[in-house]
Amino acid sequence: MAKKTTSFICQACGALHSRWQGKCESCGAWNSIAEESPAAVTLPAAHRSGRKGRLIELQSLAGTNDSPPRTQTHIAEFDRVAGGGIVPGSVLLIGGDPGIGKSTLLIQVSATLARAGHRVIYVSGEEAVEQVRLRADRLGLANAPVELAAETNVEDIAATLSQGRTPVLVVIDSIQTMWTDTAESAPGTVTQVRSSAQILIRYAKQAGAAVILVGHVTKDGQIAGPRVVEHMVDAVLSFEGDGAHQFRILRAQKNRFGPTDEIGVFEMTGLGLSEVPNPSELFLSNRDRGAPGTAVYAGMEGTRPVLVEIQALVVPTSLGTPRRAVVGWDPSRLSMVLAVLEARCGIKLGGHDVHLNVAGGFRISEPAADLAVAAALVSSLSGAVLPADSVYFGEISLTGAARPVPHAPARLKEAAKLGFARAVVPDAKAKERGGKERERDSAPPIPLDVIGSLADLVAGIAARGPRRNARAVEEA
Ligand code: TYD
Ligand code: MG
Repeated sequence: MAKKTTSFICQACGALHSRWQGKCESCGAWNSIAEESPAAVTLPAAHRSGRKGRLIELQSLAGTNDSPPRTQTHIAEFDRVAGGGIVPGSVLLIGGDPGIGKSTLLIQVSATLARAGHRVIYVSGEEAVEQVRLRADRLGLANAPVELAAETNVEDIAATLSQGRTPVLVVIDSIQTMWTDTAESAPGTVTQVRSSAQILIRYAKQAGAAVILVGHVTKDGQIAGPRVVEHMVDAVLSFEGDGAHQFRILRAQKNRFGPTDEIGVFEMTGLGLSEVPNPSELFLSNRDRGAPGTAVYAGMEGTRPVLVEIQALVVPTSLGTPRRAVVGWDPSRLSMVLAVLEARCGIKLGGHDVHLNVAGGFRISEPAADLAVAAALVSSLSGAVLPADSVYFGEISLTGAARPVPHAPARLKEAAKLGFARAVVPDAKAKERGGKERERDSAPPIPLDVIGSLADLVAGIAARGPRRNARAVEEA
């Protein structure tokens, strides 16, 4: 028997260290390293006994079933992100900050499936059965035939799940509260979380039941974060939102059975989460028309167009190094747009603080937002109000050229649907010649203001009044 030793494991990313240290070199988290006994790392007995391997059957790549069968929950915003429904035998991890609404979402998913006649088991390791019941009652779901348990030992859970009809869905809320007899560390540590997840994953594959694991994102590293099991599961979804806004976004980060760029939008109400089938309407509901520094961006999230307002505030700085503050967009992308504005259009912002905000707390990752960001920045600097009925989308290259982006027809259609009258877009001819874009045969639903470069955009905005700092723009 090996000498008993302990190891130091980062609770945020699972990296192994030889000694305790304040900062994990692997993921950069502070105070996340904890001492654990490596019980689960030992090899199974069969391995050590030198047992000869059993022959396995090798199969061809072709001839497997085309797409996995799925069970739809009929909560459309959830099904879309999951790739069209839940896949039997798959394991899905839903991560998110505590209190964001993971338990609420999953009790709603469970109840909907159970009402449709599927067997659903909800295991809560955090709340007593009575608390889960209370929440279900508040949500009007108390009569749904979901089977409930408050339990944290995975061996007991797996044994219970193996009894009776195979469930379609098992929810484990949360993986961080689970523990197994096979690992010696305390519940919530990397070793326990991984070993428990392994047992539940093995159960899912053997029984053909879908398992959803809830994982809290933790900032202080006191308990292992969901990242330590991400590689073991079939799909990783994150549930996002902030305290200041009612809406929540379900985003796929990894999905072995579907696309990863889809989002589901929900609104947290007094009666639980309600679906938001048209997020653009929600994000544009409190627009500040008539104020300089705002531009509406026609974005895409997966297969769905989403319109959001980009707000910029450009003000003379009182600091040696001007501030660059971004909420909801990539800060390095903002730096690039600012650099191109300076290099190609002569707009110098070195003496200005720049604040950029995506309204409503939404987060965008597409470079297609470049043009809308630039428009908002120039509008704020010049004081020229952009037309309230225009949308912007397009990428800006380092040369100052405006580049077309994919899915223009879908973006334009959504803008037209929401009453926008014009779209400022890059010249798509170069792309058209490539002949790839099938969708562009039909005429656009709204008139296009086609621009070739960032300088065209700036000139267009400079031609508008009233302006306070017009000179900065006109110098361009
Ligand atoms: P919860 O699902 O418990 O979050 P998580 O499981 O991610 O920790 O949601 C908790 C929050 O949601 C709580 O602050 C109250 C709020 N909430 C509502 O606003 N309406 C509701 O109907 C419910 C059930 C919760
Ligand atoms: Mg919860």
